[in-house]
Amino acid sequence: MANHVLAIDQGTTSSRAIIFREDRTVAGVGQQEFTQHFPRSGWVEHDPEEIWETVNRSISEALEKAGLTGADIAAVGITNQRETVVVWDRETGEAVFNAIVWQDRRTASLCGQMKDDGLEPLFTRKTGLLLDPYFSGTKLRWLLDNVPQGRARAERGELCFGTVDSFLIWRLTGGAHHVTDATNASRTLMYNIEQNQWDEELLGYLQVPSEMLPEVRDSADDFGTVRQDHVLGGTPILGVAGDQQAATIGNACFEPGMMKVTYGTGCFSLLNTGGELVRSQNRLLSTIAYRLDGATTYAVEGSIFVAGAGVQWLRDGLGLINAAEESGQLAEKADPEQAVYLVPAFVGLGAPYWDADARGAMFGLTRSTGPAEIAKATLDSVCYQTHDLLTAKRGDWQGGNAQTVLRVDGGMVASDWTMQRLADILGVPVDRPEILETTALGAAWLAGQRAGVWPDMDAFAAGWARDRRFEPQIDDASRSADLAGWKDAVRRTLSRRD
Ligand code: G3P
Repeated sequence: MANHVLAIDQGTTSSRAIIFREDRTVAGVGQQEFTQHFPRSGWVEHDPEEIWETVNRSISEALEKAGLTGADIAAVGITNQRETVVVWDRETGEAVFNAIVWQDRRTASLCGQMKDDGLEPLFTRKTGLLLDPYFSGTKLRWLLDNVPQGRARAERGELCFGTVDSFLIWRLTGGAHHVTDATNASRTLMYNIEQNQWDEELLGYLQVPSEMLPEVRDSADDFGTVRQDHVLGGTPILGVAGDQQAATIGNACFEPGMMKVTYGTGCFSLLNTGGELVRSQNRLLSTIAYRLDGATTYAVEGSIFVAGAGVQWLRDGLGLINAAEESGQLAEKADPEQAVYLVPAFVGLGAPYWDADARGAMFGLTRSTGPAEIAKATLDSVCYQTHDLLTAKRGDWQGGNAQTVLRVDGGMVASDWTMQRLADILGVPVDRPEILETTALGAAWLAGQRAGVWPDMDAFAAGWARDRRFEPQIDDASRSADLAGWKDAVRRTLSRRD
């Protein structure tokens, strides 16, 4: 009997497929990187065909490594880079433009204009988001304005909009299903997260015809069956969630007050607030954590744009390390007497500052500052930004059994040095899970439990295991001094210093 679950994790820099056994151990992984297109400063695009091809190659690679065939897979779960916009022709399935990626800043002035028109409170009330180029809505409007006949074709029902999950489902099912899940919809600026439906008023402001929108389903639902000529032919797609929401599920943060932070390209923290839609007073986002059996669980999210991307900069930009794993070892050698701060505002700053115009800066350099101090400042910046998010969250929500432990995942958490430093800066314990494929695991659980081959939520949560807990080791005075230096560095970096 087919009892494996395959998760497709379509991320910002690579497409991956991970096959899990019934006991949630990994049977095989396929991974394919793809091209990042930067057509202009601040613009980031992906080729949807390359996304599709790399997804297929990673599926074949994972099956081969696991020694399995499509017939061994009970269900497929999909998790994806969120907010990224794809528009394709309903007839041919061809994309009409490159995918505009979540990091893309081309709609900064449009967002500024909409804010000047006083629209932000309305969008925030309905979507939980802010008028920042990060989200899909203004990117979609740009596309409809710039693709020849774009809006007219969309109005005639000839074009489909989707986040990457939606595009992949369309392709996998041979165009039979134009669907998405509530978590992905909640990142578009077009979805009313209280009423759980596309919002006509917001669509009007964004000039997006509703004919092009996908149907929104629960995160564990029937998303169609893979077309027969595919290697996974006949397999049902039963789970879909944006990658940060999938990581929240994979880390079993099912109780209100539980929080996870994922360190990937950027860093995204989600605090589960249960059925309560908490409205942030501290410039964080309200979003859908998951929707199961029609019941919505909400989260407060903090999004930081540069985390692992900072380590990539150490490697590819500065050439200080050869591999990302070396960053912790180098940072460990830093002179503790040097207070060097990096504010990695390479693409502006996300939560809680939301300053699209800020650019990176380094402070405290002396003649003896070298690679080790710069590496430490880079890793420190990730810890300080996490502290900013935690502080903002504490201001927003004290409800439930507020967790005092943080669950972490993503590439950077493999570094013991960074995790210890994180616990030190935060002043709370940090738990690293045993299974580090947390995002894929979340998507696999959604699909696996729906297929009846994986346990229910309580049993899944009970099976969550810790690899190691990092306890804070520095005293309050050193922590306060470090944080004061960071605060000052950020203040000097912001484009507006009111
Ligand atoms: O919101 C963007 C996020 O979903 C991207 O995640 O892991 O692809 O950097 P990642």
